[in-house]
Amino acid sequence: MTVRRTVLSLMSRVSLAVAVSAVVVGAGGCEKKDPKGGGAGGASEVRVGHYASMTGPEATFGRSTDEGIRLAIKEINDAGGVKVGETTRRVTLVTDDTESQSTKAGDVVRKLIDVNKVHAVLGEVASSISLEGAPVCQEAGIPMITPSSTNTRVTERGDYIFRVCFIDPFQGFAGAKFAVDELKVKKVALLVDTASAYSQQLADEFAKAFVGMGGEVVSRVEYQKGEKEFNARLTKIREASPEAIYLPGYYTDIANIAIQARQLGIRVPIIGGDGWDSEELAKNAGDAIENCFYTNHYAPDDPSPEIQEFVRAYRAAYNGKTPDGLAALGYDAARVLIAALERAGTTDGSALRDAIAATKDFPGVTGRITLDRNRNAVKPIVVLERKGGAWIFRAKIEDPSAGR
Ligand code: PHE
Repeated sequence: MTVRRTVLSLMSRVSLAVAVSAVVVGAGGCEKKDPKGGGAGGASEVRVGHYASMTGPEATFGRSTDEGIRLAIKEINDAGGVKVGETTRRVTLVTDDTESQSTKAGDVVRKLIDVNKVHAVLGEVASSISLEGAPVCQEAGIPMITPSSTNTRVTERGDYIFRVCFIDPFQGFAGAKFAVDELKVKKVALLVDTASAYSQQLADEFAKAFVGMGGEVVSRVEYQKGEKEFNARLTKIREASPEAIYLPGYYTDIANIAIQARQLGIRVPIIGGDGWDSEELAKNAGDAIENCFYTNHYAPDDPSPEIQEFVRAYRAAYNGKTPDGLAALGYDAARVLIAALERAGTTDGSALRDAIAATKDFPGVTGRITLDRNRNAVKPIVVLERKGGAWIFRAKIEDPSAGR
């Protein structure tokens, strides 16, 4: 991999030289253009690719993220663009659809890089999809920032792969800590989506932390996303008499599961992770998600001025819609990227990579973003509670490893 990258960056230096002479020849040496990283689309713009679940079962993930990214880019362009070295450039976004399928990610990302000639890539949301897109960016030497994939393996795909969100060992810990400290729960059942890298790791990390805090896992039951019938599995869980159920899945399945659990007379709290974050969940689940909780990246009712300013701008841009965590993370990922571009002073992949890696104390909507040496962000988690038909901010949990 390292050898390959060296060859690639050498090649891009060679093609840069070619591009520079082409500009000089073509413009008769009169036009002043930034020779660095202009690529095929001209030096006057910065091209950002976004691979996202715009359609398919998890479409709110992709659409919210895309809206957050577009808002950030619009603000930057409205303010004149991004200053890259000597030039000020407009940012253009190319979004392409993974259709909520990990098998599509490789081709989508390859097209963004080879055909659309993007300088950097944002995406995906679902860890299982990011795991397929990341190696393509890594091999091409194009930096990728996932706004929201929390599985640890994503950034382990290589040194061009970053995230602006926390990781699941912390998210599992936070869920366990909340269950023990706030809900006073000692026995839980786990319900795990084995089709999702995210769900599996989060369940394991929760269980490890929960047992470490003196709790007991009384039942562990599996499903695969998209399944509709949970009665047998929930009956098994009911027989184990848990005091709470930990359900780290995606919103698409949570409504069905919660409704069927309540129908079986299971009234205990159900606790989830960030994968619950979609307005669709409450629409589909109704009352069944009362007494439910999930860990997330931000709460729109957080009174902090940065958050309220973002909520206001997003509502103004998108017909009064309240931004979910994905929109906030998309917004932050785009702004972290643009800030790194300004610091790098070039769109060259390896310089841009180094600048992203140096991100420190960036004031994001989802919290201060400092990337650690594993290219992950260390940030606090919020817990949301469903109460009286609304999600309300319930707790904030700090990462015990912060600052280490
Ligand atoms: N963290 C989830 C994953 O890694 C994705 C997600 C993030 C979903 C935030 C919703 C909100 O798969």
